[in-house]
Amino acid sequence: MPTMGEHDVSHSIDLPDALISVVCEAQRVAVMTGAGVSAESGIPTFRDAMTGLWSKFRPEELATPQAFAANPQKVTQWYDERRRMCLECQPNAGHEALAALQQIKRDAGATFTLITQNVDRLHHRAGSEGVLELHGSILEWRCVGCGFLDEETGEPFAQYPPTCPQCGDARRPNVVWFGEMLPAPVLQAADHAAATCDLFLSVGTSNVVYPAAGLIDTALAHDARVIEINLDQTSASRRVHWSLRGSSATVLSRIIEQLVNA
Ligand code: OAD
Repeated sequence: MPTMGEHDVSHSIDLPDALISVVCEAQRVAVMTGAGVSAESGIPTFRDAMTGLWSKFRPEELATPQAFAANPQKVTQWYDERRRMCLECQPNAGHEALAALQQIKRDAGATFTLITQNVDRLHHRAGSEGVLELHGSILEWRCVGCGFLDEETGEPFAQYPPTCPQCGDARRPNVVWFGEMLPAPVLQAADHAAATCDLFLSVGTSNVVYPAAGLIDTALAHDARVIEINLDQTSASRRVHWSLRGSSATVLSRIIEQLVNA
């Protein structure tokens, strides 16, 4: 794999011209984001050593169907606190840059697919459209009985677990828990985007949770150019064409600046 190598862009002014040309000329763009994109909005990631959610909580106790069955009150209370935190946070320059890139590509007659593992809907609030939410949304809650689904953008629930207004059964966050299947149509669309793109951006993800983590290899297997943007090295860094070391807000904003001024 002819890699253009790793670039620490946290301090440098400009990104490599060859990279900007690839972004400029791409006709079919697929982007996959992870929790790192929302970190600069104040939403904790999962695996960052000191601040990640999984360094404070055991996912088995909160993010599995078994945990919900064993303690629905604790699980729904924890998710509702995270739901309200997401609503209080604002999209950052990285979310806005991806929404701008989608518009630039659309105006140029190219295709652009944004795939996210995040459940916070900050991409939507930044203006991105057609977002593929591989792991669902923490703003949506569904009834375990009748399937009633509603987006909750308001105050805390009156009780935990919240009850369904239609059938009275318990409601849970409409996110994918460990051991659950991803929504098939969403995964299919994401896989198709990764298999047909000519440019794949992996932004702010540790790339360790499958099947999402496999999309970068699908893109590579179909000869797409792949750019990774991350503060740290990941398991994918050596397989991509450009591994940009920097914050997603800074690097994505710089890509847009250089694209617009190209
Ligand atoms: P992780 O917490 O595993 O990884 C976050 C990544 O973002 C790390 O590689 C960080 O180095 C990087 N990062 C942190 N701040 C950044 C910044 N400002 N700019 C760029 N990169 C930054 O989060 P995910 O990879 O999203 O799944 O985790 C994937 C899945 O594991 C989540 O969707 C969730 C979790 O368990 C489920 O809950 C099913």
